[in-house]
Amino acid sequence: MNVLETRDLHHDFSGMKVIMGIDLKVAEGERHAIIGPNGAGKTTLFNLISGTYIPSSGKIFYRGKDVTQLRPYQLSRMGIGRSFQITSTFANMTAFQNLRLAVMAKHNIRYDIFRFVNKMKNITRETEDLLDQIDLYNERDVLACNLSYGKARALEIGMALGTDPELVLLDEFTAGMSKDETASAVQLVLKLTENKTAVIIEHDMDVVFSIADRITVIHYGKILATGLPEDIRKNRDVKDAYLGDLYVS
Ligand SMILES: Nc1ncnc2c1ncn2[C@@H]1O[C@H](COP(=O)(O)OP(=O)(O)OP(=O)(O)O)[C@@H](O)[C@H]1O
Ligand SMILES: [Mg+2]
Repeated sequence: MNVLETRDLHHDFSGMKVIMGIDLKVAEGERHAIIGPNGAGKTTLFNLISGTYIPSSGKIFYRGKDVTQLRPYQLSRMGIGRSFQITSTFANMTAFQNLRLAVMAKHNIRYDIFRFVNKMKNITRETEDLLDQIDLYNERDVLACNLSYGKARALEIGMALGTDPELVLLDEFTAGMSKDETASAVQLVLKLTENKTAVIIEHDMDVVFSIADRITVIHYGKILATGLPEDIRKNRDVKDAYLGDLYVS
């Protein structure tokens, strides 16, 4: 079954057509990379899938259910988590406090003080587990604004995964990272998405080809190609539009 499917999705900003008939299919358990030039519409597609924008037309299905009109918090509760292209952690909160927000969102915390106190014990434990998984345990009490760039991005990934989503959307998680930071972030994402479905926007082709089970290429708001990495590598249209000679044999 497809975990995620968009059908004839369109979106425009004040008449400027940015998404023009996208039919994306993401199967259960796959890591699906979205690639394409700057301004192709990749982040906008994420904003549609995660409910930040409602599409101009077309439909979005999550596990077969029409979720086109749902808001981000509803989609998050249904199991969709996302990270942002620009770091969106809370600068003046510690790594622990940031992650705890994501874990609390998963538990749908309400202000019933007695239930709250009990739940908080579990939340602290889960948050600390997550800190450990993203290798930030030593930075537990460091303010997000004081983390190194690579650690701040790892925290961002942790926030996306803190809600324990079944479908995770990562927007350029390696953007701005050094080679070493990229290598450890790739390992982190491989580990954390092991039993999940992931859609990953990525510019770095080494990263794409090392993590993706399938790839969709977006060009001017349309799907130019979709398929297995080896097919995308060989695809002439993709080569002409985007990849160049580097990755095409
Ligand atoms: N909120 C907005 N209002 C108006 N135009 C927007 C908005 N968001 C995106 N756009 C425009 O839509 C187009 C697609 O932008 P988008 O951010 O989706 O591209 P992208 O593929 O993610 O690019 P990049 O690789 O640079 O991140 C661009 O022309 C952009 O300027
Ligand atoms: Mg983008």
